[in-house]
Amino acid sequence: MIKEAKTKYPVIDLIKNRWSARAFSKKGISDNDLYTLFEAAHWAASSSNEQPWRYIYAKREDGAAFEKMVSCLMAGNQPWAKNAAVLILCVARTVSGPDNRPNAAAMHDMGLANATLILQATSMNIYGHMMGGYDKAKTKKEFDIPEGYDTAIFMALGYLDSPDTLEEPFKTRELTARTRKDLSEIVFHKEAKLA
Ligand SMILES: Cc1cc2nc3c(=O)[nH]c(=O)nc-3n(C[C@H](O)[C@H](O)[C@H](O)COP(=O)(O)O)c2cc1C
Repeated sequence: MIKEAKTKYPVIDLIKNRWSARAFSKKGISDNDLYTLFEAAHWAASSSNEQPWRYIYAKREDGAAFEKMVSCLMAGNQPWAKNAAVLILCVARTVSGPDNRPNAAAMHDMGLANATLILQATSMNIYGHMMGGYDKAKTKKEFDIPEGYDTAIFMALGYLDSPDTLEEPFKTRELTARTRKDLSEIVFHKEAKLA
């Protein structure tokens, strides 16, 4: 499979097989399966067990609510994300405790929950695509995001369809192998050479 991670060291199959898909089939995700994914996210680790992650979702069949999510995405994401079975707006609570002190780990923990969610999804043959390409101001307004919360990303979820269902340049991207930096560029023993 072109998208399978070609790793130097052995990692579990879920990590190898997760990739950011764009060709989503018409098949919906059942509530039971969707809530299985949220349950997985829910058991991620978080700083002081704050669990700052919040998920607002709409299914394609929800019509206007789903369209509203699509309308918040950047133009490059809309053509394929509109075919997702589910769109999720991921929101982090950025403060904690009764005194609303800043939670510096909020976005980290939101990402950790998303990583957990997406690995669970991979085990169920559900593919996801995270999107930082969206209009933040519009999204906050449309979804009434209050003080103390910040939008992280949108996530598209669904079952795979053929890459042929995509227009270019998305089809080529769907058929291109995944790449990574060399491990030596990101891992350092004793002394970092970050510059
Ligand atoms: C926080 C975040 C934001 C992203 N935003 C977008 C996006 O707006 N549009 C897009 O096509 N892909 C987006 N991606 C997907 C990345 O481009 C993708 O994860 C990366 O190229 C590695 O590919 P892989 O996930 O298939 O391994 C985003 C991924 C993350 C984690």
